[in-house]
Amino acid sequence: MAAKQENVFVGVIGGSGLYHLDNLTFIKHVNPETPWGFPSSPIAICALPSGKQVAFLARHGTGHSIAPSAVPARANIAALKSLGVRAILAFSAVGSLREEVRPGDFAIPSQIIDRTKGVRPASFFEGTSIVAHAAFGDPFSLKLSKWLEERVKAVLETSGNGAQLHSDKTIVCMEGPQFSTRAESKMYRAWGGDLINMSVLPESKLAREAELSYALIATATDYDSWREHEGSVTAAEVFKTLQTNAELSRKVAASVLDELHEAAAQGDILTEEVGSMKFAIMPRS
Ligand code: ADE
Repeated sequence: MAAKQENVFVGVIGGSGLYHLDNLTFIKHVNPETPWGFPSSPIAICALPSGKQVAFLARHGTGHSIAPSAVPARANIAALKSLGVRAILAFSAVGSLREEVRPGDFAIPSQIIDRTKGVRPASFFEGTSIVAHAAFGDPFSLKLSKWLEERVKAVLETSGNGAQLHSDKTIVCMEGPQFSTRAESKMYRAWGGDLINMSVLPESKLAREAELSYALIATATDYDSWREHEGSVTAAEVFKTLQTNAELSRKVAASVLDELHEAAAQGDILTEEVGSMKFAIMPRS
């Protein structure tokens, strides 16, 4: 594992279209080897204008070469943790399952429905003799999500492109790589799903096991396939909004990272996660 970096308290995970951040001074790349292998891409350690340092990791690799099912999520989370990261701000392109969440809008979800198919290693304890059950009823850090809400909203309002922020939404995480059928898309709506992606799991589960604060900023690219008189989602449709969403995501990151670093340094937003695994491991009789 790499040596712990000085005070890199915040990690940003970029999804499709988001391969770098703005307003940062690049310091170096680190590529820690973890017991679960190497992360998706070397992690960029960058300085904010204040000099505080953050870590940036491209989930799908720098050239988008890793499919959602093959993302080395355990290595990604373990690598960020090994650098001293305490809070993760993750970005992901999502499909919308609701009329009011328009392509170009952002959302901070509060719940997840798991439609991955068991092919992704989803626990650090897998393959060990330790039996552990992390609490996951609230899969995202409540404090961090709340903290982000007003700040992200303010950035979207000043951006002038009409993007809205939605909160308290349920995201369905599906396996892919193919998009959903129309029937599946309608079923997810009936289940209460509002958004859909292929990446929030097992990343968020592993962040919880690692006792890291984790929140998702979901950026809507399409309406998935549930709308009766519209075409079903295609990759081309997703690409249309990807660039605009990435630019706005960079604005959001540039606006919140300094304060988030401070909050993570103080421990203010970490109170739910730190120590949460203490009683998760089943005692041996
Ligand atoms: N990512 C972006 N749009 C998506 C969709 N419609 N389904 C699954 N993942 C997505």
